[in-house]
Amino acid sequence: MTDPTFRKLIIAIDGPAGAGKSTIASRLAHKLGYANLESGAMYRALALKAIEWDVAFDDEPALVQLAHDSRIHLEPTIAGNRVLLDRRDVTQRVRESDVTEGASRVSIHPKVREWMVARQQEMGGSGGIVMEGRDIGTVVFPHADVKIFLDADPVVREQRRRQQERASGAAAPVNAAELRERDRRDRTRVASPLQPAADAVLLDSTSLSEDQVLERIEGVVRQRMTQNRT
Ligand code: DC
Repeated sequence: MTDPTFRKLIIAIDGPAGAGKSTIASRLAHKLGYANLESGAMYRALALKAIEWDVAFDDEPALVQLAHDSRIHLEPTIAGNRVLLDRRDVTQRVRESDVTEGASRVSIHPKVREWMVARQQEMGGSGGIVMEGRDIGTVVFPHADVKIFLDADPVVREQRRRQQERASGAAAPVNAAELRERDRRDRTRVASPLQPAADAVLLDSTSLSEDQVLERIEGVVRQRMTQNRT
């Protein structure tokens, strides 16, 4: 589906945890020859730094300063993003439960989000990217060429997260109550709450296989590429 004669698109995939965004975004990016950027990994890296530097998750000014003093870098690979914090590979560490909880807490702060959004715009602004997160189609790239909002039934999302964590050998299994609380925080925070952009294509993956979800999204992308040509 690579389309070398035309401008490379910005594709935004938003949705809650466990809806299948990461896998789909990585497979789609690979098919298109685009880079896949997991914006959540940046919030995770900042949360890890806060843990290491003993900065409280509710201290917004200190978190913003910490962000300014940090080098957070995402390196797209076929297996997902490699996450570098101050040049250190923290890819595995940022998936652990204390960081997951911290990322959910640091991401409520408007000034932290401002810093993240500016970095994300720098990373993806020239196109040829699939960026996934919570506010990509609404705030980071409100003019994205394709916006997908991927959702699924909460019970199914919990099961998928559990499978993912088992596969990655995570020490602590996902806790359903904590997952629900993080969901609630994402959807109700004042700064850029998780919600579909008005022009997003809504996709419920509850009863779809990964291949089926990918096929539908590819259909939307193909349509957009055709529109670009006319
Ligand atoms: O997608 P994830 O689970 O790796 O995201 C980690 C946390 O970061 C999650 O609690 C939501 C938050 N997040 C966000 O607020 N905005 C984004 N664009 C991506 C993630």
